Amino acid sequence: MTMFDRILQAVKPMVPMRARPAVRRLHRGLRRVYFLPVDLYCRLRGRDEFTPPPSLIFIGDGDFRAIGEEFAQYFTTLAGLKPDDHVLDIGCGVGRMAVPLTKVLSPGGRYHGFDIVKEGIEWAQKTITPRFPNFAFHHADIHNKGYNPAGQIRTEEYRFPSDDGVFDLVFSASVLTHLLLSDLEHYLAETSRLLKAGGTCLHTFFLLNDESGRLIKAGSSTLDFRFELPDGAWTTDRVIPENAIAYPESLIRTLYARHGLEIREPIRFGRWSGRKEFLSYQDIVIARKKPLSVP
Ligand SMILES: C[S@@+](CC[C@H](N)C(=O)[O-])C[C@H]1O[C@@H](n2cnc3c(N)ncnc32)[C@H](O)[C@@H]1O
Repeated sequence: MTMFDRILQAVKPMVPMRARPAVRRLHRGLRRVYFLPVDLYCRLRGRDEFTPPPSLIFIGDGDFRAIGEEFAQYFTTLAGLKPDDHVLDIGCGVGRMAVPLTKVLSPGGRYHGFDIVKEGIEWAQKTITPRFPNFAFHHADIHNKGYNPAGQIRTEEYRFPSDDGVFDLVFSASVLTHLLLSDLEHYLAETSRLLKAGGTCLHTFFLLNDESGRLIKAGSSTLDFRFELPDGAWTTDRVIPENAIAYPESLIRTLYARHGLEIREPIRFGRWSGRKEFLSYQDIVIARKKPLSVP
């Protein structure tokens, strides 16, 4: 969440209940006004063409380019991404992962990203696709209380428009952490449907287990998961639970097994909970779609 979103959340309790849906709808317009001076400053200074203007970076704080590069490393070194692979980026935002992948994928490789925020997709279509025609971005008008409150499609009904078994790598960075359980399970089912047999997926989570539970209790976590949801999940926000949801590791393991995804151990735990040893910020789960069994 960016500083702008935090300010908006802080003033939210002062807004009467009846006016809140309108404020949510105005969110993007307000964001543009708030960032106008910074956008102008960046434009005058000649920002690099593959970094979106600050008003479009609705995907959280942090260095846009550095975080993308960090994940591109994970895709190649941990998930085995090859230049000619076909890749699906679930919840691609404003192309943070796509930008570094333009240097990894060859013209024979293919990247598809989809997201529910139209402005991010439009920026990526306008900026990345003309230079890299093998990079395609799709807008899906899916409802999410936090990111697209006016969206018309339910996540659990969304089927990515692609044949089964075409992708070598399906990934999502900081997306399943914004989904309620039925939606999350649907995306794992879609991951499995879309992956080639033997293909790899990489998804990030906030996983609850003995260690993260102990750290949360001790107050070491960077996120305050204090509102309980069904099935052992916890959220930081009672009104908009999708702002950040943590799931039990055991539940996630069960869902992976149910959808034919074999977790490649170890899970790389992140520093969100206050761990001293970590790889990234969120927990990273890499899995392989079970190859077809030969009769
Ligand atoms: C924290 S941002 C991460 C964006 C991107 N993966 C990245 O790392 O730059 C979370 C993203 O999830 C997207 N999102 C939320 N709900 C979604 C859904 N049901 N399907 C696809 N994307 C969704 C949001 O629009 C937002 O772009």
